Amino acid sequence: MSLVEVVQRIVGPWIMLAESAYYLPSTILGLVRMGNWSTLFSWGRFQSAWFSRFWAYMGPQVRMGVEPIVVPLLKGRVSHGRKLEEGEELETAPLPVSGTVMEVGAGSGMWVSLFKEIGIEAVDANKSGSVRQRKTASPDTASTSGGITKIYGVEPNAGNHPALRQRVHDAGMDDIYEIVPLGIEDVATANIPEVDCVVTILCLCSIPSPQHNIRALYNYLKPGGRMYVFEHVCNRKHWSIYLYQKWINVFWPLMVGGCELQRDTGRYLREAAPWSNVDLSPLANELWFQAVPHVVGVLTK
Ligand SMILES: C[S@@+](CC[C@H](N)C(=O)[O-])C[C@H]1O[C@@H](n2cnc3c(N)ncnc32)[C@H](O)[C@@H]1O
Repeated sequence: MSLVEVVQRIVGPWIMLAESAYYLPSTILGLVRMGNWSTLFSWGRFQSAWFSRFWAYMGPQVRMGVEPIVVPLLKGRVSHGRKLEEGEELETAPLPVSGTVMEVGAGSGMWVSLFKEIGIEAVDANKSGSVRQRKTASPDTASTSGGITKIYGVEPNAGNHPALRQRVHDAGMDDIYEIVPLGIEDVATANIPEVDCVVTILCLCSIPSPQHNIRALYNYLKPGGRMYVFEHVCNRKHWSIYLYQKWINVFWPLMVGGCELQRDTGRYLREAAPWSNVDLSPLANELWFQAVPHVVGVLTK
């Protein structure tokens, strides 16, 4: 790893905070121009409006940085924190996302086109008979093949909905992708049935009562259902970075839409429920000085 990369991994959060700050004046001006005083004078609504502007710029950049791991993750090609190479033994690897899916914190739809791609690949694999299938699916057991049939995109920030809707439309998925305009804590009111897969990409850092709500996500899974996770977590590898994170976290939630930098999400996930299999690990190429370390993997109910 080059010196520049080391520095980037340590000072990266400050650059992100500066970029978020850049969107503060334009958010205020935009709301004043629209005469949207109720949003301007409510911290929660203002923070959401600010974050959605910031994420419209930041989301595609973050996607570019993390797609080398998120794309294989959702295609069932990540195990023990790293991408499996072509030809590597797939017998024990997770399966691709399939069946009915709940995407938590869908944001502005950064992963919609990937769901489309995975769906197409599954149909092609079914046609050619090369589908990876380990269990026989029964009506109340998670689907292991057959592509993606329905996606519930849980996203409470209304500022993200236009971009999310547009990306769903562009992907030609209007018929199967349903935006659920709620936080995960309120999703019980939306009558979502049990799903085959839950996908969380960089969002469990923002949900309230994470332990309680991760347990709720587990309950949404069918037996054999899979939860695909890519999340940033607290640094437990070195106390100095842990303290450094603590300092950044004084500003971080205020400026990054309520996101918490020091969540122990990996532990919360493991302890949430009696999973039948947990393949969740720190991201393979991250070292001890990483200010924003990640966990990645699939947990099976
Ligand atoms: C950092 S963004 C990531 C968005 C998207 N997953 C991506 O990778 O581009 C975090 C997302 O979590 C959403 N979020 C915040 N609170 C939430 C909650 N209570 N339930 C579900 N999603 C929430 C935010 O609105 C935001 O869209």
